[in-house]
Amino acid sequence: MRIPASLPVSLLALITFTVSAQTAAAPKAAQKPLPKAAPANQVALTPPMGWNSWNFFAGKVTDQDIRNAADQLVSTGMKDAGYVYINIDDTWEGDRGADGVLRTNSKFPDMKALADYVHSKGLKLGIYSGPGPKTCAGYAASLDHEAQDAQMYASWGIDYLKYDLCSFIPAVMMQQAPNDKAEQMRLMVAAYKKMDDALKAAGRPMVYSLCQYGWDAVWEWGPSVGANLWRTTDDIRPHWDSIYAILNAQAGLARYAGPGHWNDPDMLEVGNGRLSQAENRSHFSMWAMLAAPLLAGNDLPNMKPEIKAILTNKDVIAIDQDRLGREGTRIYSEDEVDVWTRHLSGGALAIAVLNAGSDRVATHPFHLSLAKLGLHGPLQAKDLWTGKEMSLADNMPLELPSHDILLVRVAAPK
Ligand code: GLA
Repeated sequence: MRIPASLPVSLLALITFTVSAQTAAAPKAAQKPLPKAAPANQVALTPPMGWNSWNFFAGKVTDQDIRNAADQLVSTGMKDAGYVYINIDDTWEGDRGADGVLRTNSKFPDMKALADYVHSKGLKLGIYSGPGPKTCAGYAASLDHEAQDAQMYASWGIDYLKYDLCSFIPAVMMQQAPNDKAEQMRLMVAAYKKMDDALKAAGRPMVYSLCQYGWDAVWEWGPSVGANLWRTTDDIRPHWDSIYAILNAQAGLARYAGPGHWNDPDMLEVGNGRLSQAENRSHFSMWAMLAAPLLAGNDLPNMKPEIKAILTNKDVIAIDQDRLGREGTRIYSEDEVDVWTRHLSGGALAIAVLNAGSDRVATHPFHLSLAKLGLHGPLQAKDLWTGKEMSLADNMPLELPSHDILLVRVAAPK
């Protein structure tokens, strides 16, 4: 949540609120029954893949940037690798007319024409709004205009909506229930349900993406308001510390994910900031282990070959998109190394060994315990970054550079 300096003090209070809610929202190994999924709308049966404008362009994004992104998804082979959604994030919105209809601003002169262009490439178009009066960047959002906005999205041919809480917090939750956190949460859930009803009434299938930073254990109620995905944490940044903190906050949430409804640890930062190649690789690998939406957020026209190689690694994408839809879990951590597994269709297993510490070289390698994973070596495996077959033995020494990962697929674990 990037808060513009111009926002009122009441909104600044939400930052503190966000931080405390984040702490409180730490995943637990709960034994409660899973929520019943809303009737499947047949979208997002595997985690959505595509590109979103925010992580690279933020408030500067224009119609032309979106067209360029669509062209690039096709020409780089990303579309063929599975990336189909082109999602416009915040700052496309203009003012509402006297009729209540929201206009686009001058950066987006004709949204229907843009949607037609994106569709002509065999891609889908996503858009952004929120339940409050304003978006996070201070543009017009959907409060009291939900049905109108949903119908307009449908008439444009929109395929995906990201719905961001932001100003709903000070404008509605804190206004209507200043001292009652539970009532604030009920208001929030009702607002998300209201837009779901509006989308359904508008009649065009759209992926419904909740963005409210994981508040009130959203994974427990997201499906009941029709969500196909829900952010589990505050905003990602193109720094290892941010990526690693978000990753750790996912441990324990696996059972809430499945076809049509996914935990969303936020969009990819692969290729952004100063992430090292190892960090980009680990970030992408772990988002695949998490069955996370793979929404690239980089500068596609200037994408370096090594970044494209990561984003289009078909074996890693196949982990993310595995049709069972079972999210991975962290099995154990030892010496700053985390070992996660993910069950795949056909009885296969993905194993990720992530080194969050300093380089592990031949003097003191990391020793992988297959026994702790309930497995017995030797096991035939494929290293998904080198593409080579390898054998996994119990307690085998692994040399792993700092922030790098070993990601393997074991076809027949035993
Ligand atoms: C919030 C969201 C971000 C992005 C911005 C846009 O911070 O969490 O992902 O959508 O708003 O203003």
